[in-house]
Amino acid sequence: MINGTTQLFGIIGDPVAHSLSPAMHNAAFAHLGINGVYLPMRPADLADGFRGLRSLGFIGVSVTVPFKVAIMDFLDAIDPVARKIGAVNTLVFERTETAIRCIGHNTDWLGSNRALAEVIDLSGRTVLLIGAGGAARAVGFGLIEAGARVLLTNRTEAKGYELAAQMGCRFISAAELPQVQADALINTTSVGMAPHQDDLPIDPELLSHFPVVMDIVYAPLTTRLLREAAARGCRAIDGLTMLQYQGAAQFTLWTGREAPHPVMRQALIDALHSPIANIPLDVPR
Ligand code: ATR
Repeated sequence: MINGTTQLFGIIGDPVAHSLSPAMHNAAFAHLGINGVYLPMRPADLADGFRGLRSLGFIGVSVTVPFKVAIMDFLDAIDPVARKIGAVNTLVFERTETAIRCIGHNTDWLGSNRALAEVIDLSGRTVLLIGAGGAARAVGFGLIEAGARVLLTNRTEAKGYELAAQMGCRFISAAELPQVQADALINTTSVGMAPHQDDLPIDPELLSHFPVVMDIVYAPLTTRLLREAAARGCRAIDGLTMLQYQGAAQFTLWTGREAPHPVMRQALIDALHSPIANIPLDVPR
């Protein structure tokens, strides 16, 4: 029940109406009996919006597209890994009687590392990333934090080379790809997302070179990439797992408590079925 002491959380983005995060975080608050509410917000202006969050007493806020880079200018401190990634997806407001400090974090890498850590010990392992956008940066720098060796391939080679150089890792051209073997493969592109669910980011015949295959796409939940991987005996990790664990890391930063993982996952699945998600689904209830 919302009352005078309800704690405020939320997400800023544009668009934000399709976000699954309100369902996930509100379910966790309800489950643990925390008097908090998590709201979707679409600021007309980022500076004004940020001042509002600060002034109105928000405790924790998620940041999504297109604000993940621009928000960094407003913060009092930024976590070192978020700084390397160059993007912030989580704000923590530290409030004392006399001051408010806003700290920026990135939990996307924590989410991908935790999803992978369920099936593979990352330290010393080799992982091939497909993609060179914002998601590739978060997942890639996260893998390096965990002590993994990263290889990177991308449709646009110049962009792939650039990110590989920044991460100090090797770029793999399309021609070299058939020779690559690694402990895991991660698709960080949107290839395979509905309504283009028949698309694949890599030749499926190569999937047998990777014992673990993870997709960041979660609509459909079982992408064609994951289906083709499972058919070749690979361990498949869906994109909802990373989304869930990045949210769980936010929840812990804000509340100091371990997140109720099954509750958050079920809330995400229910939200994917709701009209706000507006996507074709194969998600079992
Ligand atoms: P995000 O921030 O979500 O990662 P992005 O910065 O637009 O998004 O990056 C998208 C990534 O997906 C890029 O690596 C892009 O490849 P290009 O650099 O060649 O554009 C990749 N991508 C998107 N659509 C693709 C497609 N149809 N085939 C191959 N790669 C694709």
